[in-house]
Order: sequence, then C-alpha cells, then structure tokens
Amino acid sequence: RGPVSRRRFLALTGAAGLTLLTGCPGPAPSSPGPPAPAGLRLRAAPMRVDLAGRAVPTWGYGTVPGPEIRLRAGDTLRVRLANELPEGTTVHWHGLAPPNRMDGVPGITQDPVAPGAGFDYEFRTPVPGSFMYHAHVGMQLDRGLYGPLIVEPRTEELAYDREHTLMLDDWRDGLDGHTGHADPAEAPADDAAGTVSFGGRSYPLLLVNGRPPEDAAVVEVRRGDRLRLRVMNVAADTGFRFAIAGHRLTVTHTDGMAVEPVTVDALRLGMGERYDVLVDADRPDGGVWQIAVQPEGRSGWGRALLRYTGSDASRAPAVAERPAELAGRLAEYGDLLAREPLDLPAGPPDRQYDLVLSGTEIGGQSYPDADPLPVAEGERVRFTMRNTSAKWHPMHLHGHHFQVLTAGGRGPVKDTVAVPARGGEVTFDFLATNPGRWLFHCHNHHHMEDGMVRVVEYG
Ligand code: C2O
Ligand code: CU
Repeated sequence: RGPVSRRRFLALTGAAGLTLLTGCPGPAPSSPGPPAPAGLRLRAAPMRVDLAGRAVPTWGYGTVPGPEIRLRAGDTLRVRLANELPEGTTVHWHGLAPPNRMDGVPGITQDPVAPGAGFDYEFRTPVPGSFMYHAHVGMQLDRGLYGPLIVEPRTEELAYDREHTLMLDDWRDGLDGHTGHADPAEAPADDAAGTVSFGGRSYPLLLVNGRPPEDAAVVEVRRGDRLRLRVMNVAADTGFRFAIAGHRLTVTHTDGMAVEPVTVDALRLGMGERYDVLVDADRPDGGVWQIAVQPEGRSGWGRALLRYTGSDASRAPAVAERPAELAGRLAEYGDLLAREPLDLPAGPPDRQYDLVLSGTEIGGQSYPDADPLPVAEGERVRFTMRNTSAKWHPMHLHGHHFQVLTAGGRGPVKDTVAVPARGGEVTFDFLATNPGRWLFHCHNHHHMEDGMVRVVEYG
C-alpha cells in the first residue's frame, strides 16, 4: 500500500478494537479519526490473527498488537476494559506508575474482571514515554493481548519526520493445535555453552507487529527523513537483537526515559524492555532494507522492512539475509547515561535488598510462598540482583522507575533490566513514592508463572 501518514495509520488501527466512548455504546465511528486521549474502550475477546495467509485463533484486543493508545503528558487515561474472554482478565500498564489500584494485577491490586464484565481504568499520565499495555492474568500475555501505549511530551524535544512502533513477539498460540500458549510442561532446552539465552522454549514464529517474516510489516520512509522507532519486546521467552541493514541507530530513550544519545549498530532487548531510536534514512539510492530481529541464543528469525518511498518492494532482501550490523556495536547499559537522573537523596540507601536470582527464585523464594519486600514511603531503596542461573532474567518493577547504577550512578532510568546469566549482576535504586503493593518479577512469562515474583509492599 502507499504511504500512510501517522494520523491515518492511527485512524485505521483505531477503528479495529478501540472505540471512542461517546455515551452511546455502539460500533466504531464510521468516519475514523485519531483516537481521543480519553474515553477509550478496549475489548478483550477471542479472535483470529492472519499469519502469512493462515488464520490462527488467539485472544486479543481486536488486532495484534492491540490498538495504539496515545496520550499527552498530563492527560488522564480512561479505558473501559470489556472482557469477552471465557476467563477473567486485567490490563497492566507496563512502565507507567499509576495509583496502585489501577495497576491491573489480579489478587494484588484488583480482582480479575469476570467474563462478560467490565472495568474502568482511569489515572493521570504525567510522564511521557514509550510504554505497553498487556493482560496480566496467567499466561494470557503469551497470546495477542498486548499493545503499545505512547505518552507524548507536552513539547517534543526530538526532531524527527515520522515515527513507527515495532512490537517484537515470539508466537506459538493457535499453531498446530496449540491453544493458550507454549506448553508449560515443556522443559526449556539447555543452553549451548557460552550462548546468551533468555529462555529456550520452542516458539515457531517470531512476529514484528503481528506479522511473520514472509509477510513483514513495512516501515515507509522518504530519503532524508529522520525516523523515530519505538522498539518494544513483548515476547514471553525471547530476548532479541535488533538492527537495520545499512543504517545505524541513535538511542534516545530506554523504557521511555531519555538518555544522552548514543549511536550504535544494534540493540539487545530483554522481554519488557523498550528502546527509542532515531534512524536517518540517508541511503542515496533508497531501497528496501532488512529490519532484523534475531533471538538471542536461539534459531529463527523475525523482521520488518524499511522501504524508501518509490523503491521497488519486490527487491526486498530474502528472509534469511542477515545484516552485518547485528554483530556490530551493541547499546549496553554501561553506555547509557540518564538525561534526567532520578532525584535520589544523597548518601547510602535507606534500605537495601540483595537478591540472588536462581532457577525461578528471587532471593531464595518463589511466589506465592514468598515474603513481601517491605519499603517505607520516602525511602531510597536499593536492589542488587545477582543471577546464578543459566538464563537471563529481565526483571521488571511495577509502579516505579529505577536508576541503574552504572556510570557512577548516572546509568539509565528504566523499569525493566535484564540481568545476565551465570554471575551477572545489576544494581538499581528507586524512590519509594508510590504507596501500595507492587510486583517485582521476571518478565519471562514462564518464569513469572513459575513463581519468579516478589511483592514490594509499603509499610
Ligand atoms: Cu509487563 Cu508485571 O508486567
Ligand atoms: Cu526469568
């Protein structure tokens, strides 16, 4: 299809599963416009997703990924969840810090929304950034129940001509008689010595924006454009390396939070992590370029395509063509400097937790047989995580942003951080300013289901 402006694109996706709450419930408005910043309806229901011509049953929010939710900093998010699934569900706003009762964690912040019932999520979104929403009941997230959530700043500091969001996913749902998710009983494959592995379960397909490599999503650019990409890993079990053939990536944000720009060849994204990058479309002859999504420590492949307007789409590179950039310079946490470090009180932390990650335990405990991690309002809290297991664990804290303590304490501000396997260690600090009970868990959905969860509890 021809070039589609962002506005138009939003209108198209907006019509699928997200309708304006106009007071009269009914179908999507027939004259599509961009979604309003408030008053949205998200319908979770069984659906089919088209994977290269094959209609595969799954659960989703109308499309996979679900419709983009876009607000401006300071807006109030108002979403009515309508649950048309055969089981209870919730929506979690990954990376945002809402009041606790809006966090969407069943059994902790709310009861699951029963089949046929609804729930109104409503809270202010003061902090801009690239976030996601997803179901937070069991392995529902392993199906299509996720989507992007973008909070634009009141004044945009970055200069760019167009933007695009890419959601990376591993997929098994609905394939070969599978329903639900990858078989929980299936033992993860052993790591080959020395490889970086996030998981090891079998996911036959890697999707970018719900599309398999043979039917890749196309990001259209004009020569001379500066493109902003919001790259998000929503996979269950797969860490990805991300690169674009013939182009470099200037990292401007991680997990929605600004960093001093760094230009690299490739990104590595643990599950739950996001990166914003700027890409200059400066190839003199245009063309069609591979946006490559390679799982860490596993075979398989995912991709999208970067196509310069006017270039012949049939000249797209072969699926397996592997950009050299994948093996180039990677954005490491240690290379990233927070643009606005957290306002942490000077001196040592008020409270410190040293948490060994082993198997699927955090600090020797496995949820639900796990003690809460108490904190008190106003404290500066430090988590040090040491990973003695053979898998990476992308650790996610709800309701807060934390500062990774690299670079003399000015490391990136994030909400999800991948702790390397076999002795990897990461320390972060956060300010306890958002009372409630908040999950701290591995964003490998299998590990989470296996109990790799603790609850940070304000006393
Ligand atoms: Cu994406 Cu408990 O979160
Ligand atoms: Cu894990």
